[in-house]
Amino acid sequence: MRLIVTDDYSNMSRKAAGLIASQVILKPNSVLGLATGSTPIGIYEQLSAWHQSGELDFSQITTVNLDEYCGLAPDNEQSYHYFMTEHLFSKVNLPKGRQFLPDGMNLDADRECERYQNLIGLLGGIDIQLLGLGHNGHIGFNEPSDAFVKDVHQVELTEKTIEANKRFFDSIEDVPRKAYTMGIGTIFQAKKILLVVSGAEKAGILRQVMCGPIWPQVPGSILQLHPDVTVVADQEAAGELERA
Ligand code: F6R
Repeated sequence: MRLIVTDDYSNMSRKAAGLIASQVILKPNSVLGLATGSTPIGIYEQLSAWHQSGELDFSQITTVNLDEYCGLAPDNEQSYHYFMTEHLFSKVNLPKGRQFLPDGMNLDADRECERYQNLIGLLGGIDIQLLGLGHNGHIGFNEPSDAFVKDVHQVELTEKTIEANKRFFDSIEDVPRKAYTMGIGTIFQAKKILLVVSGAEKAGILRQVMCGPIWPQVPGSILQLHPDVTVVADQEAAGELERA
């Protein structure tokens, strides 16, 4: 794993956006695996700014997102579809037909998981997968459990994740209890992985992910086995790495 430590969130975002931008420049028809949450917002702002200043062209790019809540339609403000439209899709020249997320409104979980898994295969796999890190070590919605799940699947969110995500909803009762997510195998098939982590409250879990045992109770720890992972962390998030 390659580690880049930056002074703060804004430099973390700029560095990580630079790595995605170089992928887009070197291979203009790349498949980008994208994530939602607070951490990537600065990256999307930077990519949008570079697009608006004419430096970055997304016209041949395809995107596939990690996950989506079950039961939320794309026009629901809390859905990941909506998030992506607001933070990136509406700001860059990414073709509308090439922005893919799981369909949270498909209640046939088996079919939806199979469809999304096959879609990623048909696209030829992911060139670079952007990941954030949950407080419990989750990546995508692969929550701590007794085993790693390989393919796209439906998950029950843990209380910790529901608690962490309630900030985006009016009340905790509104947080969906289920989501579709890429599995660990789906994420692992990405040629490159870019993990972004910010803030002191992630320092302990980042240390476990990078230096601890590889086990499904810390899902992100499996990234130690991937051949091409870059972690971009701000100083606060990297605070416990030196000690480790
Ligand atoms: C989002 C996702 C999640 C987040 C993680 C960190 O698509 O899959 O794994 O990356 O929960 O979220 P933030 O960045 O809000 O701390």
